[in-house]
Amino acid sequence: MLSRLANRTSDITPFYVMELLSRAKQLERQGRDIIHMEVGEPDFATPQTIVDAGIKQLQTGVIKYTPAAGLTELRQKIADFYQRHYSVVVDKERIFATPGASGAFLLALAASMNPGDELLMADPCYPCNSNFIRLFEGKAKKLPVDATTRYQLTAELLKQHWSQATKGAVIASPSNPTGTLIEPDVFKQCIELVNDKGGCFYSDEIYHGLVYGKNAPTALEYSNDVFVINSFSKYFGMTGWRVGWLVVPDAFVETTEKLAQNIFIATSTLSQYAALAAFDQSTLAELEIRRAEFTARRDFLYAALVHLGFEIPVKPDGAFYIYANCAKFTDDSYQLALDLLEAEGVAITPGKDFGSHLAHQHLRFAYTTSIERMAVAMQRLERFINQI
Ligand SMILES: Cc1ncc(COP(=O)(O)O)c(C=O)c1O
Repeated sequence: MLSRLANRTSDITPFYVMELLSRAKQLERQGRDIIHMEVGEPDFATPQTIVDAGIKQLQTGVIKYTPAAGLTELRQKIADFYQRHYSVVVDKERIFATPGASGAFLLALAASMNPGDELLMADPCYPCNSNFIRLFEGKAKKLPVDATTRYQLTAELLKQHWSQATKGAVIASPSNPTGTLIEPDVFKQCIELVNDKGGCFYSDEIYHGLVYGKNAPTALEYSNDVFVINSFSKYFGMTGWRVGWLVVPDAFVETTEKLAQNIFIATSTLSQYAALAAFDQSTLAELEIRRAEFTARRDFLYAALVHLGFEIPVKPDGAFYIYANCAKFTDDSYQLALDLLEAEGVAITPGKDFGSHLAHQHLRFAYTTSIERMAVAMQRLERFINQI
């Protein structure tokens, strides 16, 4: 029988954690106390300065389309941020406001992928990025990575797996789910290799800002011939506003603009106005306090999980995740996550949401909840694993 579903849809993976989440909600309705450590968004509210900037624009009643590339003022502020924060000069013409990092990567792929093109990426990685590649009839070639490379790709890996079909590579640093940064020299080598091959390099920098005790370089420090994907979602606490940005190489500016006009006309006007306040000194001061809190949470959770016997060979440098090896307790991390939720009301994300390489031996813990709540979660987790 003729299938009315597009063939590509069968290759798109669902979020396995959603099943867990819906069970968690069911348990909460029954009155159970659930500690959420599966959620990939900050528990903090959007900074008031940003909310106020949005309200101010809303009150004018003028919420019209912006130019497809975004408000000029916002693009300029992002360009200024690159100059101030990374000491790199990026022409604002190369910067596009997008509906989150998701919209940024979709736009970048729309501008650069042909059917059959292959992009190299790490396994484990953020699943939507590889699904997006499939949506454009490309192929995500996932290369297994482990602690020896900080769960990141290397130039050697790229060279070894580069084929006729390879169009480029995607690197997310800090990574979701591992929170690890790529070493700056390895990052540079990867970019140079892709540039030398004439390919496209996509740098997912959404967790920049949420880096603890180190600095994450932007790919733009090493080359102008890169796509940089970023967002106001995580560090700026604006997940639901759906606003991010994309930096494209010069040669892609015109095409990207044409595509943005066609695909989404413009990014949410209200959210763009709100984001104008994101780089204000007062906003950044507040975000730095939050970053300090995330650092303390990272340290607390890392120590607690290691104490319980989870293996975490590389201490994460950023994002708000710890990807822990649970092989000591189980060979089925998905089942463990389900059982832990039922028995103890602690929700975490199974490794299989992020790929297939040793996924069944890994769990992602998000420290998007307070240290007090995590302390209770760790007591419950200890009781649970003592019974295994
Ligand atoms: C690595 C990575 N990239 C991109 C995204 C998409 O973020 P958004 O579209 O909210 O900006 C996420 C969200 O969790 C992520 O973890």
